[in-house]
Amino acid sequence: MCGIVGYVGSREATEVLIEGLKRLEYRGYDSAGVAVLNGSGVQVRKAVGRLSELEKTLSSNGVHGGVGIGHTRWATHGVPNEVNSHPHVSFDGKLSIIHNGIIENYRELKNELLEQGVAFKSDTDTEVVAHLLAKAYDGDLLKAVQNVLKRLRGAYAIAVCHADQPDRIVATRMGSPLVIGLGEGENFLASDVPALLKYTRKIIYLEEGWLAELTTCGVRIFDADMKPVEAAVSETSLTLDAAEKEGYEHFMLKEIHEQPRALAETIRGRIEGERVDIGELQLDPEMLRGVNRIAVLACGTSLYSGMVGKYLLERFTRIPTETWSASEFRYADPVIDPGMLVIAVSQSGETADTLEALRIVKAGGARTIAVCNVMGSSIPRHCDATLYTRAGPEIGVASTKAYTTQLAGFVLLAAGIGRTLGRVDSAEEAKLVQGLRDLPGQVKSLLDEDIVAVKRCAKRYKDVFNFMYIGRHFNYPTALEGALKLKEISYIHAEGYAGGEMKHGPLALVEGTFPTIAIAPEGKTREKLISNVQEIKARKGVVVMVSTHGDEEARELADYLIEIPACQEELSPILAVVPLQLLAYYTATQLGRDVDKPRNLAKSVTVE
Ligand code: M6R
Repeated sequence: MCGIVGYVGSREATEVLIEGLKRLEYRGYDSAGVAVLNGSGVQVRKAVGRLSELEKTLSSNGVHGGVGIGHTRWATHGVPNEVNSHPHVSFDGKLSIIHNGIIENYRELKNELLEQGVAFKSDTDTEVVAHLLAKAYDGDLLKAVQNVLKRLRGAYAIAVCHADQPDRIVATRMGSPLVIGLGEGENFLASDVPALLKYTRKIIYLEEGWLAELTTCGVRIFDADMKPVEAAVSETSLTLDAAEKEGYEHFMLKEIHEQPRALAETIRGRIEGERVDIGELQLDPEMLRGVNRIAVLACGTSLYSGMVGKYLLERFTRIPTETWSASEFRYADPVIDPGMLVIAVSQSGETADTLEALRIVKAGGARTIAVCNVMGSSIPRHCDATLYTRAGPEIGVASTKAYTTQLAGFVLLAAGIGRTLGRVDSAEEAKLVQGLRDLPGQVKSLLDEDIVAVKRCAKRYKDVFNFMYIGRHFNYPTALEGALKLKEISYIHAEGYAGGEMKHGPLALVEGTFPTIAIAPEGKTREKLISNVQEIKARKGVVVMVSTHGDEEARELADYLIEIPACQEELSPILAVVPLQLLAYYTATQLGRDVDKPRNLAKSVTVE
């Protein structure tokens, strides 16, 4: 979490920093700050709240100079106030630092500094690093950073500048993302590429432990042993438009409406005639034949896509598959063997728990595949192969297009692996491929048709305190995801259950005004779910049903009916979740919530 930006060049640094921070605000939005060097020391400005507050501060009390660092914060250590905001300044007032991540051993380092008489201003872990660096500095900032790194445990992306070396920024990373942008006579750094798109498309993805020194003359990169590195420079294909709202009120709504295009991108070139083609992953058939078990590791919405993925993988490959919350997996003393194939799912590719779980399975000899949206991010770089979902930048904290494209990715993976193993017959594959081809158009028609019904439903139920979502088999994860979307952006309590669990407890919640969203598209568990709905209706509960077009029984039963196009059961989670995304969105907007930046959350969870 937190976003960091740095600039060296001849522009006004604050303008570049603010522009970059705007693109990174999705990573944290409790407070923000900048530090600028202009030959007369370190000038720091901070403000609590959104970036707009910092802009106000800068317009009344500006700072000028061509070298600077900026930060937008998601608080980990210390409440969001001005003192705890970054940048932090060392005890001698000369060194300034921004940090994304957590210094796990900060307490012990802080005690050591306190004993040496260093006075602390903030409650943050980051301030410790500022003081350590100031103590280590002997005229060479790069060397000071290299020396202090040896003392730090945890995850960090750090950028530092010093009043006595006012022409440079030194940066490094371990477990948190950091990219370098190359310009002509100017250079940049940021947590994520969109922050730099206005200025450059030439990007260096910094590897773990590398150090970078940015000046107007160039960027020098070193590995952890200070050996110079010739880092590869990539030309990013991301565009600024992709990171703009383009007329939509919120990024989330834009991203919901981008799903037809995003899905078309996910399947582009991966279906040929009547076959699935995931040859780009170069999965060795021998390796696949040796797989005795698949584990899907992910967090949040990506975990729910992994739950659908489990059903798809077992359906098409017949390999036993388990799904794990990565945060549980890493402490579960999991059994890992070389016959295990691990699929790590992540929109950002930077989620700390997923990344750590991945390290554990790699150390155990498992094979790894990433299903990921962000090119060049850490999770794909740690995996043997990657299926990029190609959804384009997802800025809204609530994940939408990343989810549906992950689901499409799992269909491709499951069918592709299944065919390699000879476990999918060609007629079945042809049907699935046709279903995939139809998907973008079906999602488009759903978005065009259902908005009115969903808006009406949101208006009717926005003031209730609790919601229940139920589904079965492929759509049990849809229930979990629908509930997560609602609680995360509207702050209404919502829970997802497997329909078959109702009688084992949750049914006790049902009474006159209690709303249940029942996801019951055509498929082998539809009738079972209809029985669950009957039981709710018999107890006078209110039911919103998501059903296949033309389901008359659902029409009779439901208090509100939301219809989705007919499709194969395996693809139904992709269609069924779309009205649930809209329901969450319209409920939240009618309640006046900050949809793109819900309270207490951040887009990328890069700390544990
Ligand atoms: O980037 P990732 O997919 O790894 O992120 C995982 C979760 O943090 C993420 O899905 C989160 O649950 C979303 N805010 C849900 O909308």
